[in-house]
Amino acid sequence: MVKLNENFLNLKESYLFSEIAKRVNAFIAENPDKSVIRLGIGDVTLPLADMVIKNLHDAVDEMSKAETFKGYGPEQGYDFLRDAIKQYYKRNKVELDIDEIFVSDGAKSDTGNITDLFSLDNTVMVPDPVYPVYVDTNTMNGRKIIYMDATAENNFLPLPDSNVHADIIYLCSPNNPTGAVYNREDLKKWVDYALDNNSIILFDSAYECFISDETLPRSIYEIEDAKKCAIEFCSLSKTAGFTGTRCGYTIVPKSLKFKVSDKTEISVNKMWLRRQTTKFNGVAYIIQRAAAAVFSEDGIKEAKKMINIYRENAKIISQTMEKKNIRYFGGINSPYIWFECPNKMESWEFFDYMLNKIAVVGTPGAGFGKNGQNFFRLTSFNNKENTIEAMKRFEQI
Ligand code: MLT
Repeated sequence: MVKLNENFLNLKESYLFSEIAKRVNAFIAENPDKSVIRLGIGDVTLPLADMVIKNLHDAVDEMSKAETFKGYGPEQGYDFLRDAIKQYYKRNKVELDIDEIFVSDGAKSDTGNITDLFSLDNTVMVPDPVYPVYVDTNTMNGRKIIYMDATAENNFLPLPDSNVHADIIYLCSPNNPTGAVYNREDLKKWVDYALDNNSIILFDSAYECFISDETLPRSIYEIEDAKKCAIEFCSLSKTAGFTGTRCGYTIVPKSLKFKVSDKTEISVNKMWLRRQTTKFNGVAYIIQRAAAAVFSEDGIKEAKKMINIYRENAKIISQTMEKKNIRYFGGINSPYIWFECPNKMESWEFFDYMLNKIAVVGTPGAGFGKNGQNFFRLTSFNNKENTIEAMKRFEQI
C-alpha cells in the first residue's frame, strides 16, 4: 500500500495566499458592487518594460525558424543570461564565476527545492515572522525548525545567539514581510555564526532592488567569507515585474564545501548542479532572453523606473500610517509596509474588518508567524491611483 508523506499533516490546511484569495473571492461573490483594492500578495501590476517585450518578441521569432529554433537548453541557464547576472553582481563589487549562477523559475521554487541537498536531521532556523515557504517546505520534509523572535524591539532583525545551534539558517533581507534590512555589520555576525557552527545560510535577496540606501548590502556576498557559508536566491519578479513571466537565479559558490560522514569534502555547487540536471529542464529560452534584457544598461534603467513608481506608492502608504499615528516598519528599502493593527486587533480580525469595511485587501501578520499576530502587511505593488484610493479609505477606519 502506498504510504503518504504524513509530514503534510503538520502543515496548515492551505498556503497563506491561497487562504487570502479564498476569503477575497467569497467577499466579491457576496458583494459584486464593491470595488476591491488588493494590497495583499506582493504581486506586481506594471506591464513588462519595452526592452523586455522587444526581446520576448525577437526570441519568439527565433523559435519560428529552423536555423534559430531552440530545444532543450542547459539546465542551469544559457551563458548569455548567466553572464548578464555576473555583470549585475559586479556592480556591487561581487565577483562570481558563471558556473556559480543557476537560472531558475523563481526564488520561491529554489528556496524550497534546495532542501533536497540537506539531510533530514538538520535543524533549521527561521525568523518569526517569516515567508511561509521556508517553514512549509521544511515541514514537508519533517525537519526540526526553531524560531528566532523578530520583534519591534530588535527592529525585526534578529541576531545570532551563540547558545543556540542551527545547521540551516534562512535569512531574507530586505525582509518579507517586515521590510527590515540587515546592515553589513549585522550580516557579518550571521556569516561569522555560520562559519563557527559549520552551518549554511540560505539568503533570500528577492527584494534587493528596493534598497536605496547605498550603505546597505544587496547581496550577502558583499560580506567577507560569505561565499564559504551562504547560498543566495534572487528573482526578477520584483526587480522587473516577472511574477507571471517567471525567472530567478540562485548563486551557489564553488567555495561552499562541507565534510560528509566519511570525512571527505563535498561541493554544494556540484550537488546543486546534479540535482538541477536531474529534476529541472531549465527556464524557457524566450524568458531567458527577456531576463537578459533586464540586466542591460537600458534594462536596468527601465526596471529602476518601475521600482521608483512602487517606491512612491510605499511613501503614500507610509504617510497614511504617520497621519493615523500607527507604528509601522519598512516601506523605505522595501515594497512592504508592516504595521501594528489599530486598537490591538488580531491580524485576521483586522483583515476581515478592512475587507468588509473598506474593501481593501492586505496580508495578516499571523500568516507569517506568532510574532505577526498583531501586525499587518500592505504592499506597494498596486498602481498609484488604487494606492491613493485605498489610503483614502484607510483614513476612514
Ligand atoms: C508575498 O506576497 O509574500 C510574495 O509575493 C510571495 C512570493 O513572492 O511568493
